[in-house]
Amino acid sequence: MGRVLAAAFLKEGYEVMLGTRDITKEEVVKWKAANPGGQTGTFKQTAAFADIIVLATAGTVTKNVIELSGQANFTGKVVIDATNPIAAAAPDNGVLKFFTSLDNSLMEQIQQQLPEAKLVKAFSCVGNAFMYKPDFNGIAPTMFICGNDDGAKKTVRGILTAFGWETEDMGKVEAARAIEPLCMLWCIPGITKGQWTHAFKLLKK
Ligand SMILES: NC(=O)c1ccc[n+]([C@@H]2O[C@H](COP(=O)([O-])OP(=O)(O)OC[C@H]3O[C@@H](n4cnc5c(N)ncnc54)[C@H](OP(=O)(O)O)[C@@H]3O)[C@@H](O)[C@H]2O)c1
Repeated sequence: MGRVLAAAFLKEGYEVMLGTRDITKEEVVKWKAANPGGQTGTFKQTAAFADIIVLATAGTVTKNVIELSGQANFTGKVVIDATNPIAAAAPDNGVLKFFTSLDNSLMEQIQQQLPEAKLVKAFSCVGNAFMYKPDFNGIAPTMFICGNDDGAKKTVRGILTAFGWETEDMGKVEAARAIEPLCMLWCIPGITKGQWTHAFKLLKK
Protein backbone atom coordinates (compact mmCIF):
# COMPACT_ATOMS: atom_id res chain seq x y z
CA MET A 1 0.00 0.00 0.00
CA GLY A 2 2.89 2.35 0.70
CA ARG A 3 4.02 2.12 -2.92
CA VAL A 4 0.52 3.00 -4.21
CA LEU A 5 0.20 6.01 -1.91
CA ALA A 6 3.74 7.14 -2.69
CA ALA A 7 2.97 7.09 -6.44
CA ALA A 8 -0.28 8.97 -5.80
CA PHE A 9 1.51 11.73 -3.85
CA LEU A 10 4.03 12.02 -6.71
CA LYS A 11 1.18 12.44 -9.20
CA GLU A 12 -0.18 15.23 -7.00
CA GLY A 13 3.15 17.07 -7.23
CA TYR A 14 4.66 16.22 -3.81
CA GLU A 15 8.32 15.34 -3.35
CA VAL A 16 8.23 11.71 -2.21
CA MET A 17 10.55 9.26 -0.50
CA LEU A 18 9.51 5.62 -0.04
CA GLY A 19 10.91 4.13 3.17
CA THR A 20 12.00 0.51 3.48
CA ARG A 21 14.48 -1.69 5.33
CA ASP A 22 16.06 -2.61 1.98
CA ILE A 23 16.13 -0.25 -1.00
CA THR A 24 17.53 -3.06 -3.19
CA LYS A 25 14.49 -5.32 -2.79
CA GLU A 26 12.65 -6.12 -6.01
CA GLU A 27 9.36 -4.27 -5.32
CA VAL A 28 11.22 -1.14 -4.26
CA VAL A 29 13.56 -1.17 -7.29
CA LYS A 30 10.53 -1.66 -9.57
CA TRP A 31 8.68 1.21 -7.86
CA LYS A 32 11.68 3.51 -8.36
CA ALA A 33 11.93 2.54 -12.06
CA ALA A 34 8.21 3.20 -12.57
CA ASN A 35 8.36 6.45 -10.57
CA PRO A 36 11.66 8.12 -11.52
CA GLY A 37 10.66 11.34 -9.76
CA GLY A 38 10.47 9.55 -6.42
CA GLN A 39 13.26 8.65 -4.03
CA THR A 40 13.78 5.60 -1.84
CA GLY A 41 15.52 5.49 1.51
CA THR A 42 15.79 3.81 4.88
CA PHE A 43 12.94 4.37 7.30
CA LYS A 44 15.14 6.87 9.17
CA GLN A 45 16.10 8.83 6.03
CA THR A 46 12.46 8.91 4.96
CA ALA A 47 11.12 10.12 8.31
CA ALA A 48 13.79 12.85 8.43
CA PHE A 49 13.04 13.91 4.81
CA ALA A 50 9.26 14.20 5.15
CA ASP A 51 7.01 17.04 6.27
CA ILE A 52 4.07 14.65 6.03
CA ILE A 53 4.73 11.03 7.01
CA VAL A 54 2.48 8.13 5.96
CA LEU A 55 2.66 5.08 8.20
CA ALA A 56 1.97 2.15 5.87
CA THR A 57 3.63 -0.73 7.65
CA ALA A 58 2.27 -4.05 8.90
CA GLY A 59 0.47 -3.31 12.17
CA THR A 60 2.51 -5.85 14.11
CA VAL A 61 5.79 -4.07 13.28
CA THR A 62 4.72 -0.42 13.22
CA LYS A 63 6.14 0.34 16.67
CA ASN A 64 9.50 -1.17 15.65
CA VAL A 65 9.50 0.80 12.40
CA ILE A 66 8.88 4.03 14.35
CA GLU A 67 11.89 3.21 16.54
CA LEU A 68 13.99 2.47 13.42
CA SER A 69 12.81 5.80 11.97
CA GLY A 70 13.93 7.83 14.99
CA GLN A 71 11.09 9.12 17.15
CA ALA A 72 12.39 12.71 16.99
CA ASN A 73 11.81 12.71 13.22
CA PHE A 74 8.04 12.65 13.88
CA THR A 75 7.93 15.67 16.21
CA GLY A 76 5.42 18.32 15.12
CA LYS A 77 4.72 16.57 11.80
CA VAL A 78 1.45 15.44 10.23
CA VAL A 79 1.51 11.63 10.37
CA ILE A 80 -1.11 9.80 8.32
CA ASP A 81 -1.75 6.49 10.03
CA ALA A 82 -2.99 4.00 7.44
CA THR A 83 -2.16 0.90 9.49
CA ASN A 84 -4.45 -1.80 10.83
CA PRO A 85 -3.78 -4.02 13.86
CA ILE A 86 -4.18 -7.30 11.98
CA ALA A 87 -2.96 -10.26 14.02
CA ALA A 88 -1.05 -13.21 12.59
CA ALA A 89 -3.84 -15.69 13.41
CA ALA A 90 -6.10 -16.86 10.56
CA PRO A 91 -9.50 -15.15 10.08
CA ASP A 92 -12.73 -16.75 11.43
CA ASN A 93 -15.16 -17.17 8.50
CA GLY A 94 -13.55 -14.18 6.78
CA VAL A 95 -13.35 -12.02 9.92
CA LEU A 96 -9.78 -10.87 10.50
CA LYS A 97 -8.27 -11.12 13.97
CA PHE A 98 -6.94 -7.94 15.59
CA PHE A 99 -4.30 -7.77 18.33
CA THR A 100 -5.95 -4.68 19.87
CA SER A 101 -9.17 -4.35 21.88
CA LEU A 102 -12.25 -2.17 21.30
CA ASP A 103 -10.98 0.07 24.12
CA ASN A 104 -7.47 0.60 22.77
CA SER A 105 -6.74 1.04 19.07
CA LEU A 106 -3.39 0.78 17.32
CA MET A 107 -3.60 4.50 16.54
CA GLU A 108 -3.88 5.32 20.24
CA GLN A 109 -0.82 3.15 20.93
CA ILE A 110 1.11 4.97 18.20
CA GLN A 111 -0.04 8.38 19.49
CA GLN A 112 1.22 7.39 22.94
CA GLN A 113 4.57 6.39 21.41
CA LEU A 114 4.67 9.70 19.47
CA PRO A 115 2.99 12.28 21.73
CA GLU A 116 4.42 15.21 19.73
CA ALA A 117 3.24 13.92 16.33
CA LYS A 118 -0.02 15.06 14.74
CA LEU A 119 -1.55 11.71 13.89
CA VAL A 120 -4.50 11.40 11.52
CA LYS A 121 -6.09 8.02 10.78
CA ALA A 122 -6.84 7.72 7.04
CA PHE A 123 -6.78 5.23 4.14
CA SER A 124 -7.14 2.30 6.56
CA CYS A 125 -10.60 1.12 5.45
CA VAL A 126 -10.16 0.54 1.72
CA GLY A 127 -7.96 -1.59 -0.53
CA ASN A 128 -5.01 0.04 -2.23
CA ALA A 129 -6.62 -0.29 -5.68
CA PHE A 130 -9.07 2.46 -4.67
CA MET A 131 -6.88 4.82 -2.68
CA TYR A 132 -6.23 7.24 -5.52
CA LYS A 133 -9.03 8.59 -7.73
CA PRO A 134 -11.47 5.74 -6.92
CA ASP A 135 -14.03 5.24 -9.72
CA PHE A 136 -17.48 4.36 -8.40
CA ASN A 137 -19.58 5.75 -11.28
CA GLY A 138 -19.11 9.34 -10.24
CA ILE A 139 -19.87 8.79 -6.53
CA ALA A 140 -17.07 9.81 -4.16
CA PRO A 141 -16.67 7.17 -1.42
CA THR A 142 -16.23 8.19 2.23
CA MET A 143 -12.92 8.10 4.06
CA PHE A 144 -13.32 8.13 7.82
CA ILE A 145 -10.58 10.04 9.62
CA CYS A 146 -9.80 10.96 13.22
CA GLY A 147 -7.04 12.61 15.22
CA ASN A 148 -6.39 15.16 17.95
CA ASP A 149 -5.00 18.01 15.81
CA ASP A 150 -7.52 20.01 13.76
CA GLY A 151 -4.85 21.58 11.54
CA ALA A 152 -3.46 18.15 10.65
CA LYS A 153 -6.96 16.89 9.86
CA LYS A 154 -7.50 19.90 7.57
CA THR A 155 -4.29 19.01 5.71
CA VAL A 156 -5.38 15.39 5.34
CA ARG A 157 -8.87 16.40 4.23
CA GLY A 158 -7.24 18.43 1.45
CA ILE A 159 -5.16 15.43 0.39
CA LEU A 160 -8.23 13.16 0.42
CA THR A 161 -10.23 15.63 -1.68
CA ALA A 162 -7.40 15.77 -4.23
CA PHE A 163 -7.26 11.96 -4.21
CA GLY A 164 -11.01 11.77 -4.99
CA TRP A 165 -12.51 11.10 -1.54
CA GLU A 166 -15.21 12.60 0.62
CA THR A 167 -13.94 12.95 4.20
CA GLU A 168 -15.87 12.32 7.42
CA ASP A 169 -14.10 13.46 10.56
CA MET A 170 -15.06 11.12 13.41
CA GLY A 171 -13.30 13.12 16.13
CA LYS A 172 -10.32 12.47 18.38
CA VAL A 173 -7.83 9.60 18.40
CA GLU A 174 -10.22 7.30 20.31
CA ALA A 175 -12.45 7.15 17.21
CA ALA A 176 -9.81 4.86 15.70
CA ARG A 177 -11.38 2.14 17.90
CA ALA A 178 -14.29 2.28 15.45
CA ILE A 179 -12.43 3.15 12.23
CA GLU A 180 -9.79 0.40 12.40
CA PRO A 181 -12.41 -2.42 12.51
CA LEU A 182 -13.88 -1.10 9.23
CA CYS A 183 -10.91 -2.91 7.71
CA MET A 184 -12.37 -6.17 9.04
CA LEU A 185 -15.75 -5.34 7.49
CA TRP A 186 -14.15 -4.29 4.20
CA CYS A 187 -12.19 -7.56 3.95
CA ILE A 188 -15.05 -10.01 4.68
CA PRO A 189 -16.48 -10.09 1.10
CA GLY A 190 -12.92 -10.37 -0.20
CA ILE A 191 -11.89 -13.28 1.98
CA THR A 192 -15.20 -15.17 1.72
CA LYS A 193 -16.28 -14.37 -1.86
CA GLY A 194 -13.24 -12.91 -3.61
CA GLN A 195 -14.97 -9.51 -3.90
CA TRP A 196 -12.56 -6.66 -3.24
CA THR A 197 -14.11 -3.87 -5.36
CA HIS A 198 -16.08 -1.83 -2.83
CA ALA A 199 -15.72 1.20 -0.56
CA PHE A 200 -17.81 2.77 2.20
CA LYS A 201 -20.20 5.69 1.72
CA LEU A 202 -21.87 7.54 4.61
CA LEU A 203 -25.40 8.68 3.72
CA LYS A 204 -26.70 11.70 5.61
CA LYS A 205 -29.89 13.75 5.74
N1 LIG B 1 -2.78 -3.45 1.28
C1 LIG B 1 -3.84 -2.66 1.38
O1 LIG B 1 -4.61 -2.52 0.41
C2 LIG B 1 -4.13 -1.93 2.66
C3 LIG B 1 -5.30 -1.15 2.75
C4 LIG B 1 -5.57 -0.44 3.92
C5 LIG B 1 -4.67 -0.50 4.97
N2 LIG B 1 -3.56 -1.29 4.86
C6 LIG B 1 -2.64 -1.33 5.99
O2 LIG B 1 -1.41 -0.81 5.55
C7 LIG B 1 -0.31 -1.45 6.19
C8 LIG B 1 0.63 -2.01 5.13
O3 LIG B 1 -0.01 -3.05 4.44
P1 LIG B 1 0.56 -3.70 3.11
O4 LIG B 1 -0.55 -4.48 2.53
O5 LIG B 1 1.21 -2.66 2.26
O6 LIG B 1 1.68 -4.73 3.48
P2 LIG B 1 2.41 -5.23 4.80
O7 LIG B 1 3.14 -6.42 4.42
O8 LIG B 1 1.42 -5.32 5.94
O9 LIG B 1 3.44 -4.04 5.12
C9 LIG B 1 4.55 -3.81 4.32
C10 LIG B 1 5.38 -2.75 5.01
O10 LIG B 1 5.73 -3.20 6.35
C11 LIG B 1 7.15 -3.24 6.47
N3 LIG B 1 7.55 -4.41 7.25
C12 LIG B 1 7.06 -5.67 7.14
N4 LIG B 1 7.65 -6.48 8.03
C13 LIG B 1 8.55 -5.71 8.70
C14 LIG B 1 9.46 -5.98 9.77
N5 LIG B 1 9.58 -7.20 10.31
N6 LIG B 1 10.20 -4.95 10.23
C15 LIG B 1 10.08 -3.70 9.70
N7 LIG B 1 9.23 -3.40 8.70
C16 LIG B 1 8.47 -4.39 8.20
C17 LIG B 1 7.67 -3.34 5.05
O11 LIG B 1 8.96 -2.83 5.01
P3 LIG B 1 10.07 -3.40 3.98
O12 LIG B 1 9.88 -2.61 2.73
O13 LIG B 1 11.33 -3.13 4.67
O14 LIG B 1 9.77 -4.87 3.78
C18 LIG B 1 6.69 -2.45 4.32
O15 LIG B 1 6.97 -1.09 4.54
C19 LIG B 1 -0.93 -2.53 7.09
O16 LIG B 1 -1.04 -2.04 8.41
C20 LIG B 1 -2.31 -2.74 6.47
O17 LIG B 1 -3.28 -3.19 7.39
C21 LIG B 1 -3.28 -1.99 3.74
